[in-house]
Amino acid sequence: MIHTPNTFNDFADSNDPLFARIAMDIKTKGYSINPEALPLRLGNNLIRHLGRLSEKNFVKAGIGRDRQLMRNNFVRGDEICWITGESKVGRAWLHWTGKMQVYLNRQLFLGLFSFESHFAHYAAGDFYKRHFDSFKGEANRVLSLVVYLNPTWVPADGGELVLFTNKSNPEGIKVTPSFRTVVIFLSEDFPHEVRVTHRDRYSIAGWFRINSSTTVRVGPAL
Ligand code: OGA
Ligand code: MN
Repeated sequence: MIHTPNTFNDFADSNDPLFARIAMDIKTKGYSINPEALPLRLGNNLIRHLGRLSEKNFVKAGIGRDRQLMRNNFVRGDEICWITGESKVGRAWLHWTGKMQVYLNRQLFLGLFSFESHFAHYAAGDFYKRHFDSFKGEANRVLSLVVYLNPTWVPADGGELVLFTNKSNPEGIKVTPSFRTVVIFLSEDFPHEVRVTHRDRYSIAGWFRINSSTTVRVGPAL
């Protein structure tokens, strides 16, 4: 009897083509930009969840190690809400990113150990100046992941993510923050910025981390 491929493969998953593309991109160039990639149902549920969150769930984003303390409106203006496993959709999101983590660890041996993420809301006029998500030495953020939750974005709305991938292209690569676009890049390697947005802009930003714990110091619980 001949079985069709995958019929009896417990590990086959509808996310595999996307995860495979991301793994290949990370290996070859260090970043991956994927329009219409976030699973539709997950994306719709995340948008519905956002609609139920109120402003008081969001806190002004900070910078640096003491993110909640060092606020700096000159650098970034967005407000954030950390995603925990408290809600069903929060768990669905963490399940999806968990599968990505397992896939990337198997393919790239990155040793990704944990994941943290938050919703971000940029109101009209907000931006996030050019920055790195992680710095060599102190680094335990390895991969940055951003997904967008804006169903009707047009270029005139602004709010592009600009990834500076190459010194010979000072313009960088512009990404429109459209619903279901998934961006992932090596946190230490690519400075990036969010251009000023002209309307409410919603995204999730997340980071896969390696375990920074050592025998002398336990890594921050951020
Ligand atoms: C960040 C970030 C990019 C975006 O939160 O560190 O760079 O497009 N976000 O929202
Ligand atoms: Mn960033």
